[in-house]
Amino acid sequence: MIGPDKRKLYPNEKLKTVCYISNLPDRPNVEIGEYTYYSDNKKSPEKFYDYIEHHYEFLGDKLIIGKFCAIAEGIKFIMNGANHKMDGITTYPFNIFAGGWEEFTPTVEQLPFKGDTVIGNDVWIGQNVTIMPGIEVGDGAIIAAGSIVTKDVSPYTIVGGNPARVIKKRFSEETIEILLELKWWDWDIEKISRNINFLTNMDIDALKEFLDKDKKE
Ligand SMILES: CC(C)(COP(=O)(O)OP(=O)(O)OC[C@H]1O[C@@H](n2cnc3c(N)ncnc32)[C@H](O)[C@@H]1OP(=O)(O)O)[C@@H](O)C(=O)NCCC(=O)NCCS
Repeated sequence: MIGPDKRKLYPNEKLKTVCYISNLPDRPNVEIGEYTYYSDNKKSPEKFYDYIEHHYEFLGDKLIIGKFCAIAEGIKFIMNGANHKMDGITTYPFNIFAGGWEEFTPTVEQLPFKGDTVIGNDVWIGQNVTIMPGIEVGDGAIIAAGSIVTKDVSPYTIVGGNPARVIKKRFSEETIEILLELKWWDWDIEKISRNINFLTNMDIDALKEFLDKDKKE
């Protein structure tokens, strides 16, 4: 058993609402890990790129998404191009309206820049979530439906609301450390397929035993 074909846009022919978005045509400054899917019941999930907003190549900010993430409909990644210059009397962007105003175009250095947006591996993003520029979301995190994420999210942490606040940790610190060592998403696909039962349950003793055995192999 090796599971679905990761090279297919629609890995399950009968389910055209889930799309492996690493198979969309390449786009500058966007990296998406294998098996990460975007699901959309109302529109074509192939339109995923439409939800990466204000993403301009000349600014150079990247959207990097890890492997095995689940991204629900209503996602919005707001990128750095959305930010206006804020240290003047006005934030009004005169330059974009032409008619001579373009000579007041700010330099890239004068614009607020928060860096790349980085989503880890095995992250579940609920419906209608907005992620602000420069946010890093750790492996195994969950973003609750309707959240606006304005601060980095630690691994295996559930956040929710506007602004998104920590709801709870998914596991104890000890377990999270072990999971971050396990990095199951980097295994070859045969090993993942063989261990789906193990991965979809949480038994700390079995996890420690697995890791010990794995290190010896
Ligand atoms: C985040 C989520 C997984 C939490 O589930 P849970 O562990 O069962 O959490 P609970 O319902 O017990 O709620 C725990 C706390 O989180 C809060 N909470 C739950 N969902 C929230 C949300 N969307 N936004 C803000 N806070 C939320 C609850 O109010 C509760 O707060 P309290 O501790 O102050 O009482 C779930 O609420 C969610 O948003 N799932 C996403 C569903 C989705 O969008 N799926 C898309 C298709 S794949």
